Amino acid sequence: MTKEEIIDFYKHSTTEELIGKAKEICSVKYDNKVFLRGLIEFSNYCDKDCLYCGIRNANANVHRYRLTEKEIIDTVKLGYDKNLKTFVLQSGEDDYFTNKKLCYIIEEIKKITNNEVALTLSCGIKTKKQYQEIKDAGCDRYLIRFETSDEKLHSYLRNGISLKRRLQALNDLKELGFEVGSGFMVGLPNETEQIRINNALLCYDLGLDMIGIGPFIPHPETPLKDSIQESIELTIRMTALLRMLLPDANIPATTAAGTLSPIGREKMLEAGANVLMPNITPTTYKKDYLLYPNKICLDETGFECIGCLSGRVGTVGKKLSFERGDSLSFLSRKDYSGNNG
Ligand code: 5AD
Ligand code: SF4
Ligand code: FES
Repeated sequence: MTKEEIIDFYKHSTTEELIGKAKEICSVKYDNKVFLRGLIEFSNYCDKDCLYCGIRNANANVHRYRLTEKEIIDTVKLGYDKNLKTFVLQSGEDDYFTNKKLCYIIEEIKKITNNEVALTLSCGIKTKKQYQEIKDAGCDRYLIRFETSDEKLHSYLRNGISLKRRLQALNDLKELGFEVGSGFMVGLPNETEQIRINNALLCYDLGLDMIGIGPFIPHPETPLKDSIQESIELTIRMTALLRMLLPDANIPATTAAGTLSPIGREKMLEAGANVLMPNITPTTYKKDYLLYPNKICLDETGFECIGCLSGRVGTVGKKLSFERGDSLSFLSRKDYSGNNG
């Protein structure tokens, strides 16, 4: 189907029909495998003030923490010993973690894991030169959601930061050879169905390797506290649309979906998601990384979650995989450029 045909199909189909299509793609392309990523939330300091986010700078009620460099590296080692092959290091926009520190952490991790793991960073907008240094240190992938494709809504929600700047960062990352991830929240205030469709089309135009989406959940200590909570169904429908538009992209079933609905992640997996990200941040810190309220899995270790997830994926006919799980789009780009190193 062309992208126009896919959008048309999306508009005229029930959620069950969309899920049917997504299931077919996941079975053929991924043999129903679900890749695992160990998520480490290494700092909840942030100098930005996104209106939707619970750890925004202006929220004085947040107990701020930073993992030490050693704690970050040790946490990866723990995951590596338990067979995880991909790690995502996420934080707010925290200048304490200078590029020098980040590069040191990346290099150490690569060393102690015999270069066997894929490393993803998710710590916001940086200059192209900084991204280059991070890449040179051995970082494989970078995540930075565009949040919404609507320019006006974007600069309102991000407290004045433009969508253009975000897209510039994504473009820089792609040029530098990263496996690139982005995505958006679903059900933001003033978001229309057309904006959601445009969000999906922007993912398509960017040719993303990884797409993270999840429901917007109003946080009581933010300016958006009185916004309405949209249903999980919108996120499920978007997941299926993205799977149809970008069959080669990795799409996580996100914790926000599991927070909004007890079977939100399973529903996302049915609708085309093929990645899960157990949160292996040491449990003492987990409760302080609350972008939205009622976040699940705060008392469990990420390793306990893996056991839980293995049962959950089974209920929707899928199975966990401990492979690196590079995105198919990234692998074909590498082959095409003849650069296999
Ligand atoms: N509800 C849901 N998702 C949120 N994020 C931030 N705040 C919220 C919220 N209130 C998402 C953003 C960000 C990602 C790390 O978490 O999309 O990029
Ligand atoms: Fe900071 Fe990211 Fe939250 Fe914005 S969404 S306030 S950049 S942690
Ligand atoms: Fe964390 Fe079930 S996935 S406890």
